Amino acid sequence: MTASSTPVGELAGRHIVLGLSGGIACYKSAELCRLLIKAGATVQVVMTEAATQFITPVTMQALSGRPVVGSQWDAREPNNMPHINLSREADLILIAPCSADFITRLVAGRSDELLSLLCLARPMDRVPLLIAPAMNREMWLHPATQRNLRQLQADGALLLGVGNGLQACGETGDGRMLEAAELLEEVIAHFVPKTLAGQRVLVTAGPTYEAIDPVRGITNLSSGKMGFAIARAAQQAGAEVTLVAGPVHLPTPRGVERIDVRSAAQMLAAVRPLSEHASVFVATAAVADWRPANASEHKIKKDGSGKTPQLEFTENPDILATLAQSPRAQAGQLYCVGFAAESQDLLANAQAKLARKGVPLLVGNIGPATFGQDDNALLLVDAQSAVELPRASKRLLAAQLVAEIAHRLNAAKPTT
Ligand code: CTP
Repeated sequence: MTASSTPVGELAGRHIVLGLSGGIACYKSAELCRLLIKAGATVQVVMTEAATQFITPVTMQALSGRPVVGSQWDAREPNNMPHINLSREADLILIAPCSADFITRLVAGRSDELLSLLCLARPMDRVPLLIAPAMNREMWLHPATQRNLRQLQADGALLLGVGNGLQACGETGDGRMLEAAELLEEVIAHFVPKTLAGQRVLVTAGPTYEAIDPVRGITNLSSGKMGFAIARAAQQAGAEVTLVAGPVHLPTPRGVERIDVRSAAQMLAAVRPLSEHASVFVATAAVADWRPANASEHKIKKDGSGKTPQLEFTENPDILATLAQSPRAQAGQLYCVGFAAESQDLLANAQAKLARKGVPLLVGNIGPATFGQDDNALLLVDAQSAVELPRASKRLLAAQLVAEIAHRLNAAKPTT
């Protein structure tokens, strides 16, 4: 198995030039700078003069821990060439916010102020330029802006899109800069190798909830965090990802399509048609094994006699086993990965489950030690071997598992 360890911070070792042009969204760039640094990056802030009208270089210097550069005549650079030095050091340049005017400057290849100059001077083959536009909705929709954006992309910049909503001007529509957390996700994703490009990944996550009556039900302690982390990692690795989630309180990973369900039966009904188009299925959901056989239409009331209701159970469908036995899985078109939540004897239980579910890869973990936590330890079990992924954040483990799945898919490809 190839699972490798990566640095703890997802941007550890990365150097980002964060460029601010003029716009009210500059206030979000302070938070973005903080998030980039928390993720392990070093950040060099470059501001246009217009940007300094909205937020001070002092704020950005304090957050980045480096003096902000704003002029191509900055004599602090020994060779007096900040446009060369800053663009050569960078692993990535992110312009956030990128104003309509700054887009025009980039399209024209202007070089009369530092930020557009260093974008022009960047080595295009190794320093990507990411653009986070921010402007009023009419400016965004204007044919001139849209034309410039098409040209900017044709010239090699990566456009991160805009948000929709209430704007600082009081109007509502497209043109808001993406939120700092969204931009952080885009930057992290940019550095992830696209090992799952062209794959369609289906993930189940979270618990299921089986109704007893309209106000009560049976569920379990699964938080869904592991499954959400796997959906995120697969999306960042270039896959098209659909996440079928039981009742959880987690934000949808960026770029992932999410379908919410409650019961095991609903989960199976959602997953079945999706599996017809998927190439990978990862079953992380803690599906309830049983459901009340006859859920009451109305709330079950106490009758005063002290007698407790007698609940009868019926077994839920096994979603993973159902998909693993499907014709597509049997024909090698759907690669199924199971999880095993155990409380003891992890290896033996995981090996038994691997055989019982009929999957090529099963991921064992100790349920009570991980439910609700941000970290976990995994045991990857297949017919030949068992490999431990030591305790780490669920995000890191998810990235390792996705790399392992990609490796197995590649190994299974016929050689030409
Ligand atoms: N699973 C499923 N549908 C079910 C039960 C489990 O798809 N009705 C999947 C889970 O998503 C997981 C794997 O099967 O990938 C194993 O789940 P787990 O709860 O550990 O095992 P069970 O099959 O329920 O077996 P047991 O309760 O005996 O441990």
